[in-house]
Amino acid sequence: MESDQWKKLMVAMARLAVFLLVIVGSMIAFLFVLHSNPDLFYSQKEPPQLVQEAFQGDQLIEDGVHVATGFVEGEGLMMVVNNCTNCHSAKLVTQDRFTKEGWIQVIRWMQETQGLWDLGPNEAVIVEYLSNHYAPEDRGRRKQLEVEWYSLEE
Ligand code: HEC
Repeated sequence: MESDQWKKLMVAMARLAVFLLVIVGSMIAFLFVLHSNPDLFYSQKEPPQLVQEAFQGDQLIEDGVHVATGFVEGEGLMMVVNNCTNCHSAKLVTQDRFTKEGWIQVIRWMQETQGLWDLGPNEAVIVEYLSNHYAPEDRGRRKQLEVEWYSLEE
């Protein structure tokens, strides 16, 4: 190789070395700053606003109704939300009306045929909630039949 070419090569190598030094140097500087100030880009003290709002939205109750599912407010609500909306819409639950025994039967049926898990000690709370708020008496009361009574003696 001619000396001219050597020179060019050396200059190119030197430039590359400086370039790499600058990159590595700034990375080290960046890590150093980040290390001494961990909250620079992300604060662990407060969850990001969006997550907080989504969480609240999940629990939001308006006019006595759990907004996300339509379940009425009551003791055991979140337990029902967490166990009864995984496979089907909450509507399938809220549109039904059963007695306590009836709800237990529905749960057994789902456990035997639909893969519903054992609800353990939560079952009593869930059944209590369902039979309190989705009891047969509430089901679409129709108007009393109007019967014209007549006397059998006539
Ligand atoms: C593992 C899945 C799963 C879970 C969890 C689940 N169900 Fe179901 N459930 C089903 C399936 C599947 C059906 C049938 C859906 C259909 O017919 O379209 C069903 C149907 C129903 C019905 C309608 C029954 C009928 O006779 O029409 C009701 C009411 C119901 N579920 C209530 C509940 C309640 C209350 C819970 C919580 C304790 C619950 N489900 C949790 C799978 C599940």
